[in-house]
Amino acid sequence: MELGLELFTKEGGEFLFRWGHVLAGITWIGLLYYFNFVQVPAFAEMEAGARTNAIDKLASRALWWFRWSALATALMGFMILYFKDQLTDMEWAQKPSGVSIMLGILLGLVMLGNVWGVIYRNQKVVIANARNVQAGGEANPDAPACGRSALMASRQNMIFSFPMLMFMIGTAHFFYNFNAENRGAYYGITVLILIVLELNCLGVIGGKGQNFTNWMYESHKNAIISASVLLVIYYALFECLMKP
Ligand code: HEM
Repeated sequence: MELGLELFTKEGGEFLFRWGHVLAGITWIGLLYYFNFVQVPAFAEMEAGARTNAIDKLASRALWWFRWSALATALMGFMILYFKDQLTDMEWAQKPSGVSIMLGILLGLVMLGNVWGVIYRNQKVVIANARNVQAGGEANPDAPACGRSALMASRQNMIFSFPMLMFMIGTAHFFYNFNAENRGAYYGITVLILIVLELNCLGVIGGKGQNFTNWMYESHKNAIISASVLLVIYYALFECLMKP
């Protein structure tokens, strides 16, 4: 019996990285949901001193796993593409399953950009401020604005996660055979919605205050409603444009 050797074939490599990809993915998205549904509401109810200590000891640790699992998810996702020869031959992006994974990857990469470029960059200031205050230093006046920027991007990532996962699993397991004739329209509309939402969470459209365009970031309930609406829109468009 040649134990384990099958793992060193292309198919074995794809399987291994698919497993690692989903493992890292659940770590990332699990922590995203923890931040959104548990930590932010809990911190809002905590006393300032306890919150500062929790930012220092708890949030900083969660953020470490969060950002590295996000990077690992993306890298292992690209390893799946590598083992399927999909990095060199891009024809697959025109096939039905290719449309699905392309959009899943696009959403995933925008989310990854938010993790490293917005959430981590701003949370670093919040954590440094908490440590400084704990040590008896002056509070950084920029910290609340940084916290707000991170919160908006985090809630936007939560909103993106619903359709992102639909596309990830839809690639191999969609429940009807769709066709890719109208893929141009589908790509166009979904990417446009994605760009508008991303610009909105960066404050480019309605600023970062509490206003109409930022309704979806005001509570985790609003974010869940928005994620569900986005999922329904992406799915309905899929039915309209991609059903044979
Ligand atoms: C960040 C960028 C990401 C990239 C580049 C990426 C890439 C991929 C690729 C290439 C596949 C294989 C599709 C196929 O041919 O069957 C896949 C599947 C999958 N991905 Fe991702 N992904 C990303 C993010 C995520 C995230 C955040 C999750 C969250 C859990 C996730 C969960 C999954 C799942 C569950 C599958 C389906 C596995 C299966 O059905 O066998 N991915 N992804």
